[in-house]
Amino acid sequence: MPEKTIAVLTSGGDAPGMNAAVRAIAKVAAARGLRTLGVLDGYDGLIDGRFRELSRSVSGSAQAEGQAQGEADAAALGVLPELDIAGGSGGTILGSARSSRFRTPEGRREAATRLAALDGLIVIGGDGSLTGAHLLAGECRTPILGIPASIDNDIGCTASAIGVDTALNTIVDCCDRIADTAVSHRRAFVVEVMGRRSGYLAMASAVAAGADGVLFREQDRGEDEIVAATARTIARCFEADRGKRRVLILKAEGVDVPCTRLVQRVEETLAERLPGVELRATVLGHLVRGGRPSFMDRMIAARLGRCAVEALLTGTSNEMLAWMPPLPGGTPTEDPSVVRFPIARVLSECKALLDGSSPVTQRRVRMMQQLEGVLGI
Ligand code: F6P
Repeated sequence: MPEKTIAVLTSGGDAPGMNAAVRAIAKVAAARGLRTLGVLDGYDGLIDGRFRELSRSVSGSAQAEGQAQGEADAAALGVLPELDIAGGSGGTILGSARSSRFRTPEGRREAATRLAALDGLIVIGGDGSLTGAHLLAGECRTPILGIPASIDNDIGCTASAIGVDTALNTIVDCCDRIADTAVSHRRAFVVEVMGRRSGYLAMASAVAAGADGVLFREQDRGEDEIVAATARTIARCFEADRGKRRVLILKAEGVDVPCTRLVQRVEETLAERLPGVELRATVLGHLVRGGRPSFMDRMIAARLGRCAVEALLTGTSNEMLAWMPPLPGGTPTEDPSVVRFPIARVLSECKALLDGSSPVTQRRVRMMQQLEGVLGI
């Protein structure tokens, strides 16, 4: 029986744990007698037909006496040894890209032609990548599934996405390091973290790092209000002789005031009230996206990957595997912590997460508002 072949691609901003998902997909697929191809550089590679073999037939696996064909097929496949190691590395071994060609009907037609020879495609990425998967699923017959991967945690219908836990650990570690030097010089630091549209990384890491304040886009403040709030926090911490020797304020990238400008304006604001106060700014940038994936991200990636292969085997398409969903609904899977949602539902929830109408965003913002009076104490 000709072996079935599936493909996996990583798309959009890379996220630590993507390789763990690729490894899990290739292993579970091999165990189910499926061959797995890795698509290079996201949707661009799919359009160009640039694939990399992730599993191979293992010689000498002739069907043993009475062994079922499926078992023989499974015995015949093994994942490439380097995949065992790569699964624990950051970034994506397949490469990723934000493909402008794929956003054109011609580009997607090319992609659909490549897919016609395959028995399934798994797309690992954020809302832009899932949007592409959704469009392609409606334009070809090959089953297509999505796995959420975005350090910003800005994907709907899932409690977390691949990369979030590692990014948070990186930020907290950086904040601890900054606190060391801030205490030595009795300084206030504004630390900017990634999160162009969602302030989740700033919110969650502020609590974990014991920050004195946090700025995120969802607070919907103008520049003057941001400057005033930051100055108030620093004054409250340093003014009374409370012995505080550091002020740490987390700022999400989506707060549209450059860090250096914010620090300069706050220093000017505090010049009389706190003469000599020293402020510094640190922008973590892409540091937040690198690094070896944490246990949590490797586990989430592996369990979502497994359920994606199982769902492809049932012919499911145009759905995303979700981790411990914070919302009702979804189709149960083999894993009690994983359900499947139609990608259309996921994309509308992504929009709601970012425009603030989602109960998940409302709950996050409400919690941060409740913490506002607590953080700087
Ligand atoms: O993946 C999401 C993200 O990390 C955002 O937080 C960030 O603003 C953006 O990607 C950076 O994109 P790029 O790597 O293309 O500069």
